[in-house]
Amino acid sequence: MLARKKIILLSFAIAFVVFYSLIYTITRLTVQHRDLSVRKVEPAKYSDFVPVGLSTLPFLECRSRNAFASRLDVQLCVLRSNDANSLERHLRNATNQTQVYIVQQPERVSNEDKTKLLTDGFISCQVVLVNNASVPRFIIYTHSAAQNVKLRQKVRETWASREVLQRNRAVNIFVLGSSLSQTIQANVLSESRAYHDIIQGDFIDSYRNLTLKHRFALKFLQNLTSCFIDATSYPLAFKTDDDVVLDLDAFTGFFLRFHASPPPRTFFCANVLINELAPRDPFFKWYVAEEEYAGAVYPPYCYGNAYLFTWDMVGTLYEESLRVKELWVDDVYFSGILTSSFGKVIFVELPFQSPIVNIATNPEDVLRMGKWLVHTWGNDEASDDYWIGFQAKRSLTARAVFKASVKHRTGETFDYFST
Ligand SMILES: *[C@@H]1O[C@H](CO)[C@@H](O)[C@H](O)[C@H]1NC(C)=O
Ligand SMILES: *[C@@H]1O[C@H](CO)[C@@H](O)[C@H](O)[C@H]1NC(C)=O
Ligand SMILES: *[C@@H]1O[C@H](CO)[C@@H](O)[C@H](O)[C@H]1NC(C)=O
Ligand SMILES: *[C@@H]1O[C@H](CO)[C@@H](O)[C@H](O)[C@H]1NC(C)=O
Ligand SMILES: *[C@@H]1O[C@H](CO)[C@@H](O)[C@H](O)[C@H]1NC(C)=O
Repeated sequence: MLARKKIILLSFAIAFVVFYSLIYTITRLTVQHRDLSVRKVEPAKYSDFVPVGLSTLPFLECRSRNAFASRLDVQLCVLRSNDANSLERHLRNATNQTQVYIVQQPERVSNEDKTKLLTDGFISCQVVLVNNASVPRFIIYTHSAAQNVKLRQKVRETWASREVLQRNRAVNIFVLGSSLSQTIQANVLSESRAYHDIIQGDFIDSYRNLTLKHRFALKFLQNLTSCFIDATSYPLAFKTDDDVVLDLDAFTGFFLRFHASPPPRTFFCANVLINELAPRDPFFKWYVAEEEYAGAVYPPYCYGNAYLFTWDMVGTLYEESLRVKELWVDDVYFSGILTSSFGKVIFVELPFQSPIVNIATNPEDVLRMGKWLVHTWGNDEASDDYWIGFQAKRSLTARAVFKASVKHRTGETFDYFST
């Protein structure tokens, strides 16, 4: 009797071990197959970064992999093929600054887009062209939620104020889903009338509707194309969220210096995320089931709280999103899965921030590290400190306020500035 029990237990244990080894092996194989990153990293100056030669290779996209602020760059090339022989040949040709990554062709389907604009008529070409005064350089579209009135107001008072936007030739548009609360809905309409900076779609705001929302935003942006005279005056589309503080002045300065006229099909990302495993823990906020995304690893994609792309991508991404199986995690879907489904795309990683560093980073460190973007996770009080910090780079008045605030908070003197 006892012996039989032992045998049963033992069989269970063996079955368990075999099962997990199998799963482990399969996962490793999949990961290794798709992660054929090669060789070492060579430092290069930002200004030196040009995907020389590589851009001529078929199916190859290159990204500048920016590890520490603007000091270290590595190129990452993505080969859209599962053909090991051709990969091998490309590898032999690749320089030391190249990493190669295989992405799978996404599954093609036919999606319908039934989303409608609820706040129609409040954002016109006149609004976008800032009363005809100038062609915008950036059309920022900031994902928000209907009830986030306070966050939007904070954004309008700080990094996307009228003055900041004007001097950087930028336009900011909030993208909202709708709410089941009639009060909230009514407030959004009057807010939209007051500020002319809201587009609201007729779908419920929720995490699972993120891709729906992003596609809706692209549809609206695509509609704005006729506002611009021709392709030479197209702005860049700039995706961000309502819970960030952005140093737009610093960003514009950097951008004009290094990327004044980017080639078509270019993506600028805060961070390019590579080898991210699709999260399979059902209790995790970003859990994705295998039916939603079959691969073990996501294709390289942009960290979602800030990325830009050339205007030609607006329509391309929108159209492609009607033909490629949806994934609700919109950053993975639009910047990763969709970009791996068509021709060459250039990815440039910008010295914005590191998503790992910014969590609970104080404003002093944000300045010391030369960051341009902080993810406040919805803490709109903290955003004042970060914003003053950003301004302190350029204004003596802001500098004095910032120093006083640091002194008050920490009891220490912040001696980062020379004056
Ligand atoms: C490798 O580089 C050579 C010389 O630049 C070129 O002729 C050849 O086509 C390249 N091979 C592949 C597979 O790209
Ligand atoms: C790659 O790196 C090795 C060792 O650092 C060097 O000898 C070689 O010349 C480099 N090759 C290229 C193509 O840069
Ligand atoms: C705005 O620009 C367009 C095209 O350049 C022009 O036709 C129109 O009259 C301008 N409107 C104003 C208010 O200046
Ligand atoms: C997404 O929006 C649609 C349309 O409003 C709604 O029917 C659906 O419940 C939403 N999905 C989720 C998961 O909230
Ligand atoms: C696009 O423009 C058309 C015609 O002006 C308008 O009917 C439609 O609502 C617009 N769509 C969006 C998403 O802005």
